[in-house]
Amino acid sequence: MSALRLEGKVAIITGAAGGIGEAAARLFVKNGAFVVIADVQDELGDQVVASIGPERCSYKHCDVTDEKQVEDTVTYALDKYGTLDIVYSNAGIIGSLTSTLDLDLKALEKTIDVNVCGGVAMMKYAGRAMVARNIRGSIICTVSAGATRGGLGPAGYTASKHALLGVVRAASRELGVYGIRVNSVSPFAVATPMACTIPGVKRFRLDPEFIEARMSSVSNLKGMILKPGDIAEAAMFLASDMSACINGHDLVVDGGFPDSSDTFPVNTFKAVMDIVRWSFSKVTFSSIVSTFMPRYIISWFDDRTRDDVSRED
Ligand SMILES: NC(=O)c1ccc[n+]([C@@H]2O[C@H](COP(=O)([O-])OP(=O)(O)OC[C@H]3O[C@@H](n4cnc5c(N)ncnc54)[C@H](O)[C@@H]3O)[C@@H](O)[C@H]2O)c1
Repeated sequence: MSALRLEGKVAIITGAAGGIGEAAARLFVKNGAFVVIADVQDELGDQVVASIGPERCSYKHCDVTDEKQVEDTVTYALDKYGTLDIVYSNAGIIGSLTSTLDLDLKALEKTIDVNVCGGVAMMKYAGRAMVARNIRGSIICTVSAGATRGGLGPAGYTASKHALLGVVRAASRELGVYGIRVNSVSPFAVATPMACTIPGVKRFRLDPEFIEARMSSVSNLKGMILKPGDIAEAAMFLASDMSACINGHDLVVDGGFPDSSDTFPVNTFKAVMDIVRWSFSKVTFSSIVSTFMPRYIISWFDDRTRDDVSRED
């Protein structure tokens, strides 16, 4: 097996203009793949292509809620690179943050549209292309640790990810007969733009380090801090021939986040204490020096200058 795990493979990654998708695009290319970066954020998508290098990847505008755009993206990949081996269906939104009691059904529809229908559309057109060309491809979806339990995200998001996992399981049975594998990777919280922003509140950004400290504190794998690259690695495993016999599997990447009853409310005290500890750990010797030293030096110089001036007088 080649050291480059995706050598010569052609992949489409949706939602690859940032976050987990961008990390996957970088990793897939590094491992020898040609990648179509599909997203709705054109400027960011172009920037990702420019920084990776246009000889190995290209950007295609694709709103996954528009079936025609999804079909066009599959056609684009086939025309540009001659085949299609991997589809990493990763685009998603958090949707409305309200609880079930206040859930706006239109907002729920939008979440389902992106997170479920978008994934289904990708599977449909990529699956058709693979079947027609006899390609033993690999389709991966980004689902969520919240797809198998409640309380890890808002109700609408949780519903959409439960549904998407169902789609993955159903499609793996149907496409398996053509030699096409369908699996999912399910991250726990990763400090991407999605996790650090509040929908509709553009200027508010949570500190990624705060999210990481918060999430790390509730996992039982000590020192674990989930990064987009960790999810990308899991996706690459499912995309590569290393997982040739794995189909219909949901690969959870959560750093051992505890199950069922041991969820956020139970751990709130511990989480707060861990964050306080983390905040104190930021107060290092060099941070104290860099905070106070310049003032000390400046005041020393000020005093000397004042003395010199008064002597001249
Ligand atoms: N970050 C987390 O904590 C976390 C946890 C579990 C699952 N996930 C899932 O991981 C996936 C990637 O999320 P992320 O954290 O990298 O977030 P992100 O917001 O950084 O990236 C999501 C990308 O999807 C794109 N997108 C949104 N709607 C789209 C549409 N209609 N068509 C095409 N592209 C669209 C966005 O432009 C963005 O580039 C999502 O499916 C998300 O639900 C994330």
